[in-house]
Amino acid sequence: MSYDKEINKHGNILNNSKFKILKEFIAHGKTSTFKHSINVVKCGLGIIDKFNLKVNRDEFIKSALLHDLYFYDWHKTPKGKGLHGFTHAKDAAENAKKIFNINDNEYSNILSHMWPLNITKIPKTKEGVIICIADKICSIKETLRIVNN
Ligand SMILES: [Fe+2]
Ligand SMILES: [Fe+2]
Repeated sequence: MSYDKEINKHGNILNNSKFKILKEFIAHGKTSTFKHSINVVKCGLGIIDKFNLKVNRDEFIKSALLHDLYFYDWHKTPKGKGLHGFTHAKDAAENAKKIFNINDNEYSNILSHMWPLNITKIPKTKEGVIICIADKICSIKETLRIVNN
C-alpha cells in the first residue's frame, strides 16, 4: 500500500526548509536522511496496518518524520560531539521541539528511537516502539541497498 497521500498531509514538515536540509545528508548506503525518514514512516505504517494496531497515526507520522532531525553528516561527526549513536536522538528531539510544534509524546518517541543502544531511553508509547523497530528494519535495508533510494 502506498502511504504517500497520508504522509503528504504533513506538508508543513515535508516542505519546511530545515527539514529539506536532510536531503543533503546520507543516512545509510545511498539513502538520504530525508528519504530514510519517509521510509521509516512507511515501514511503521505497514506494521501498524498489518497487525491492526490502534495508535495515534498523526503522532506516529510526525515523530517518525522528525526522528533523525540533526544537521550534520554522521559519517564525520563534528568535533566535540559524543558518539553519534548515543547523542543524535536527543539532538533530533530538541531540534524538532524548536522548529516544529511537537507534543510531549512526539518528543519522547524521537528521544527513545535508538533504544536499546540508549539503554535508559525506553520507548514510552506504542508509536515509540514502532519507530524503534521500523528504524532498525530500514537502516538494515538501506545499508544493504535493498530499498529504492
Ligand atoms: Fe536515528
Ligand atoms: Fe533513523
